[in-house]
Amino acid sequence: MTHGRGLFAVLAAAVICAAAAPARAAEPSALAFADGRAGVSLDGAWHVIVDPYDNGSVDYRSQPRPHGYFDDAKPRDKSDLIEYDFARSPTLQVPGDWNTQRADLLYYEGTVWYERRFDAAQSSVAGSRAFIQFGAAAQRATVWLNGKRLGDHEGGFTPFAFEVTGVVRARDNSIVVKVDNTRRADALPALNTDWWNYGGLTRSVRLVQTPRVFVRDARVQLDKENAGLVHGFVKLDGARAPTPVTIEIPETGATHTVTTDKTGAARFEFAATLEAWSPESPRLYDVVVRAADDRVQDRVGFRTIRVRGPDILLNGKPIFLRGIALHEEALGRGGRATTRAQAEALLAAAKELGCNFVRLAHYPHSDEMTRAADRMGLMVWSEIPVYWTIAWSNVTTLGAARAQLAEAIARDHNRAAVILWSVGNETPVSDARNRFLRTLVDDVRAADDTRLVTAALEHHAADAHTEVIDDPLGVALDVLGLNEYVGWYDGLPAKCDTLAWRSAYDKPIVVSEFGADAKAGMHGDALTRFSEEYQADVYRRQLAMLKKIPWLRGLSPWILVDFRSPRRPLPGVQDGFNRKGLLSNDGTKKQAFDVLRDAYRSWPPLAPAPTAGR
Ligand code: GCU
Repeated sequence: MTHGRGLFAVLAAAVICAAAAPARAAEPSALAFADGRAGVSLDGAWHVIVDPYDNGSVDYRSQPRPHGYFDDAKPRDKSDLIEYDFARSPTLQVPGDWNTQRADLLYYEGTVWYERRFDAAQSSVAGSRAFIQFGAAAQRATVWLNGKRLGDHEGGFTPFAFEVTGVVRARDNSIVVKVDNTRRADALPALNTDWWNYGGLTRSVRLVQTPRVFVRDARVQLDKENAGLVHGFVKLDGARAPTPVTIEIPETGATHTVTTDKTGAARFEFAATLEAWSPESPRLYDVVVRAADDRVQDRVGFRTIRVRGPDILLNGKPIFLRGIALHEEALGRGGRATTRAQAEALLAAAKELGCNFVRLAHYPHSDEMTRAADRMGLMVWSEIPVYWTIAWSNVTTLGAARAQLAEAIARDHNRAAVILWSVGNETPVSDARNRFLRTLVDDVRAADDTRLVTAALEHHAADAHTEVIDDPLGVALDVLGLNEYVGWYDGLPAKCDTLAWRSAYDKPIVVSEFGADAKAGMHGDALTRFSEEYQADVYRRQLAMLKKIPWLRGLSPWILVDFRSPRRPLPGVQDGFNRKGLLSNDGTKKQAFDVLRDAYRSWPPLAPAPTAGR
């Protein structure tokens, strides 16, 4: 790897990047620490109406009683005309996608109306405040409670909440949610993805109760330059005057009190002696935050992550990220993985590979996954679905990307496992794309200066034996992600043997994708496409090629498990699945699983960082 003609690209990027002048991203609506708060789970069976014509949104007979489905109306007498009845409609399980719960909905794209009735505990009505929080709704949702429209949310992978104080009642509440997973050119992701467009209330729904003044958010992490210093911020909601807030780590005796400003916000830092979180020792502590009548707590790991030249430093020591990529599909049953057990099963397979790192592609996975990674000792690359071609010049699209990024960061900024925020995947270089992504990079820097920023970049050939990474976005990133498919989309496996890689940057490179399709149980020689032998040969030659890259600091081969994709129709081989998994979707291992596991077991120690410019 040497610094070649990329210098021009770097200078050009500096000019483009300087043009980006972001304002602040929208404030996320979800409440931090919601899971531990008093409340009522709304998980379970919800009645549903499948509504491809979006009939339920309009009151086409506007007189005398307009009846959108959101009214959840009942006939007043036998002459009243109501053409829907949730109570007699079929049900779907929440959390869960609709695609894998009903065969007729496998490919369904459109609107589904969800409804359920519930009683709220008495305390949610008198004196406290109440919110309805969704872990996610794919891809957009509109919510009504007792006929009152609470609002909308765009983005299928991040949490959101609406305050329902004064709207929720002690008994017989009706909640109606319109969920629409229709793909749109101006949305995120856009029209074309190599994964299944699951729809539904895919993560848990809760009624959450809080005191009048409560801790809406708090980040409690380590100063990235000083592992002896806990630092972060706290945001109160409902405080009308500066309010003392206490942050405590009981096991260490560390406790610190700070007073919020008139907006309810405060930053803090205090000394503490903590065992560092690492994959080898994923140490978590109870952290307690108190303010006014509120008390919340979380399990938090403390570590530092930073880059120095081409090295990634975890707790000050250079590391190599032995990773694998994965989609959020449950092993065996398929569909969106929604439970702790499903998350732990996927991460256990990564641990069996010998991984210390996972790329959670191509959208924020559930916090069951990031919390499991905290407990199991796996570092995480987290990303939003800025995937392939996006409406780069559309301000609505940029707003959606910024909101999803802010929501992902706010949800996981206390997860030690998360070390990388990725702002894009394989996005063709253009001025509009550079400005769009640079705005997202700046948002990450503003929201969370304790983690690294990356993106899965593209590359190009300098000649038949040299590939170059000189994406202009690289100047703004800490770590360069690189997707490459030499041996599958790009030549035959033997091409790996004579290929060299160059970079325009003196920065760590994580090869965020390489791989090949194989149908489990299909065998042939090493040039038989879709055979396990071909996939294993690609892995052997890829790993030998990649080891020569002096700036290589991590891998997340594509992918742990076969996954559903409408782009993969090959009968008898793909049948609607992308077969690049090291495991088939029912968990059967392929030969390449052992190739990667053996490679990680014997991966050579990191060579001293090369001198920049060589
Ligand atoms: C791309 C893309 C993946 C896709 C993979 C493939 O790199 O990032 O989402 O599944 O290629 O073609 O299998």
